[in-house]
Amino acid sequence: MKETNPHDIMQSCFDALEEERRSLAHELHDEIGQSLTAIRTSAKIIARQSEGRQSYDVAQGIVSLTDGMFDLLHNMLHRLHPTVLDKLGLIDALSDLSDFNQKHCSLKCNIHIEGGLESLSLPMKLTVYRIVQEALNNASRHGAANCANIHICLDKNALHITVDNNGSSLDESRLKEPGIGILGMKQRVIAFDGKLEINNKPSGGVIVHVELPLNSI
Ligand SMILES: Nc1ncnc2c1ncn2[C@@H]1O[C@H](COP(=O)(O)OP(=O)(O)OP(=O)(O)O)[C@@H](O)[C@H]1O
Ligand SMILES: [Mg+2]
Repeated sequence: MKETNPHDIMQSCFDALEEERRSLAHELHDEIGQSLTAIRTSAKIIARQSEGRQSYDVAQGIVSLTDGMFDLLHNMLHRLHPTVLDKLGLIDALSDLSDFNQKHCSLKCNIHIEGGLESLSLPMKLTVYRIVQEALNNASRHGAANCANIHICLDKNALHITVDNNGSSLDESRLKEPGIGILGMKQRVIAFDGKLEINNKPSGGVIVHVELPLNSI
C-alpha cells in the first residue's frame, strides 16, 4: 500500500469497500434479476395455459412470489450500492433516496441544495450519500420521524451536509458508544478531515451536521 497518511489509508479502505459493494450490486442485479425474470415469465405462461385448473393458482402463486423477491432485491441493491449515483449523479441519487424513504418508511424528505455538487469526486459523492442515508435511516428507525430536511451547501471553504428530522430526541449517552451507523459516519468524515455533530433540536428531533473542508476534496 503506497499511502502512509492515516486519512489516505482510511479513504482507501472506504474506496475498496464501496468498490466491492458496487460489484456485488451489479452482479446481484444481473444474475438474480435475470433468473427471477425468467421464472416469472415461465410461471405466467403456465398460468395462461392452465386457466380453470388447479395449476393456475400454483403458477399465479409463483408470479406473486417473484414479485415479492424483486422488491426485496431492489431494497437490497439500494442499500448495497446506489447505482443511480453512477448513472444519474448525486442530486438524482438523493432524490431517489428521498422517494425510497417516503415509500417504505413514511418519511417525507425535503431536499435543498446550494452549489454545484457534480464537481465533487466520486468518493466524496458516496460519502455525502452514505451520511444522508444513515441519518434518514436513524430518523425513522429510532426517532419515528415523518419529516426530514436535507440541506447540502458547497461554499468556497467547505461542503456542509445537514439532515434534521421531527422525530423524538436522542439519548445523548448513546453517542459515547454508538452503533456501526454513527461510527461509519464518523470514520467517513475523519477520512476527509471533517467535523461531525449530532444534536437534539430545541423543538424536538435530531440534527446531524457534517462539514468537509474543501482542501480535502
Ligand atoms: N435520529 C435519531 N433519533 C433518535 N435516536 C437516535 C437517532 N440516531 C441515533 N439514535 C440513537 O443512537 C444510537 C446509535 O445510532 P447508530 O446509527 O450508531 O446505531 P444503530 O442505528 O442502533 O445501529 P446501526 O449500526 O444499524 O446503524 C441508536 O441506537 C439510537 O439509540
Ligand atoms: Mg443507525
